[in-house]
Amino acid sequence: KTVFVLNGPNLNMLGKREPGIYGGQTLDDVKQLCLSAGADLGFDVDFRQSNHEGTLIDWIHEAGDKAVGVAINAGAYTHTSIALHDAIKAVSVPVIELHISNVHAREEFRHHSMIAPAAKGVICGFGTASYILALHALKYTIA
Ligand code: DQA
Repeated sequence: KTVFVLNGPNLNMLGKREPGIYGGQTLDDVKQLCLSAGADLGFDVDFRQSNHEGTLIDWIHEAGDKAVGVAINAGAYTHTSIALHDAIKAVSVPVIELHISNVHAREEFRHHSMIAPAAKGVICGFGTASYILALHALKYTIA
């Protein structure tokens, strides 16, 4: 069973980017976490990052054909992208929205998610463990 773990804009900067908020782990560290947590759950994890909205949309469509579920940290597109909302609506696989930080404890503009209404559920605020929790959430969803 393949699951896609998708990462949006600026997440390639993890480790260097606002470490007080996002921690010191790099995106490659997070990838390793996801591969090993995924293997424990019986998932093959396909882990990807793009700074481009359209690429993320293409990947969601691709997941509709190739994956049993998606965990996505859409970065700032979370708060802006109707197109990502529509892409999630267009596929029948469950999509879990996740965030490293607790977006609700931060600036007002991070409190609203455009994609949450299309997602199965949302996990935020647990640091990079949010990724592991999202994979567990997928396991429960798919079971
Ligand atoms: C983020 C939260 C978003 O508000 C922000 O734009 C990000 C990262 C998180 O993982 O905490 O890029 O999705």
